[in-house]
Amino acid sequence: MSNYDVKDLGQAEGGRRRMDWAEREMPVLRSIRARFKKEKPLKGLRVSACLHVTTETANLMVTLQDGGADIVLTASNPLSTQDDVAAALVNQFEIPTFAIKGEDKVTYFKHIRAALEHKPHMTMDDGADLVSSLFFIEMGRFEKLEPSLGAWAKGLSDEERKQMLKNVIGGTEETTTGVIRLKAMEADKILKFPVIAVNDALTKHLFDNRYGTGQSTIDGIIRATNVLLAGKNFVVAGYGWCGRGLASRARGMGALVIVTEIDPMKALEAVMDGFQVMPMDEAAKIGDIFCTVTGDINVIDKKHFEVMKDGAIVANSGHFNVEINIPSLARMSVGEPNLVRPFVEQYTTKDGRKINILGEGRLINLASAEGHPASVMDMSFANQALAAEYMAKNAKTLEKKVYSVPIDIDNEIARLKLEAMGVKIDILTDEQLKYLSSWEEGT
Ligand SMILES: NC(=O)c1ccc[n+]([C@@H]2O[C@H](COP(=O)([O-])OP(=O)(O)OC[C@H]3O[C@@H](n4cnc5c(N)ncnc54)[C@H](O)[C@@H]3O)[C@@H](O)[C@H]2O)c1
Repeated sequence: MSNYDVKDLGQAEGGRRRMDWAEREMPVLRSIRARFKKEKPLKGLRVSACLHVTTETANLMVTLQDGGADIVLTASNPLSTQDDVAAALVNQFEIPTFAIKGEDKVTYFKHIRAALEHKPHMTMDDGADLVSSLFFIEMGRFEKLEPSLGAWAKGLSDEERKQMLKNVIGGTEETTTGVIRLKAMEADKILKFPVIAVNDALTKHLFDNRYGTGQSTIDGIIRATNVLLAGKNFVVAGYGWCGRGLASRARGMGALVIVTEIDPMKALEAVMDGFQVMPMDEAAKIGDIFCTVTGDINVIDKKHFEVMKDGAIVANSGHFNVEINIPSLARMSVGEPNLVRPFVEQYTTKDGRKINILGEGRLINLASAEGHPASVMDMSFANQALAAEYMAKNAKTLEKKVYSVPIDIDNEIARLKLEAMGVKIDILTDEQLKYLSSWEEGT
């Protein structure tokens, strides 16, 4: 395989312009890049990144490259790649990039193979597909791999497979679903190197998951459908960080928001935040637009499609395309779905209802829109860059566990972001410091 696989290098110029546009909104990452350029904290490290190939990710890649890393980038979702950006990374920054929007599963895993062939010292994942592939290969569990990746791995010697894993000093993980998978690997004692859960940083999930997913998911649904949200019953499945953001933004657009949950605490919070809460069995009958953001499987299932209104719009913004049981809808439908607009597949049920599935059930904010705005990815990717630097310095002393981003890094990112936004805050006086650390003052 050559050292890149992108759709069209001719798009590089446009991709570069959009990267520059995003960079203006990423002051924290810019300041890290300037320091990395001088200090080269990642010098000599091979990094394989499996992330959504967007303008913001491109700026992260350039930052890591300026920090001395030798990078390969592959897509973390078949539908999230921005082809012009992938072209710019190859053509203008000589970063080997393997990502094509709309690639099939075989190509997706052929690209993961390229990331593995890079023999990384460090992995940077979004959803843990790269790390899980690495572990399956090392364990010889080829049946768990996509067949062509499995066939390639089978052809390696035992020594080559083991060495591939031994090379890795540590990794980072971007999203909730990936962190859940990694913690399960840790519990099963198969995690073989330390990983920093970037998602667990406050400056990541409080902002990226909530405000980023909130806004960009609405953006994705609107770009795909041009539907008016005002007055519509908008069902949000999952009231976690992403769900909170999505519900509040949908309400802001005038939708009547219904939340479904399985966690009593989150459900109670949604009630007190002023949303209607009910089981999906009920919501399915009255919803006009549905969006899942749970990280769970078959949240919208056959029984829900059976009672949905004619014309319902169904989308997902959770990490994997398993939240909506599309195969069950296909079985309930006549013929193939119609692509009525880009990213809108219309199924006709046997009783004649039309149900519209957006973006093949993949994260709609990246499928039909551009993902999170750069301003919010500034903090997520500042965490990625600093986590990589931290891992490079400290990997030897870390155990084979999932670690949070050190709180000092988290706080520093918040401070830098406020500074860049021109927002000043108060500083504790000596008197206040003393008061807050004493028990003697009371009523
Ligand atoms: N689209 C994006 O760009 C983007 C960005 C960040 C995270 N994500 C992904 O979105 C998903 C959610 O992330 P999060 O940070 O909000 O996670 P979270 O853990 O904060 O929230 C998930 C919520 O879903 C609820 N839930 C689980 N199963 C459910 C079910 N069957 N019905 C209703 N609710 C259910 C949980 O109780 C929880 O409150 C993950 O897959 C994550 O990786 C996507």
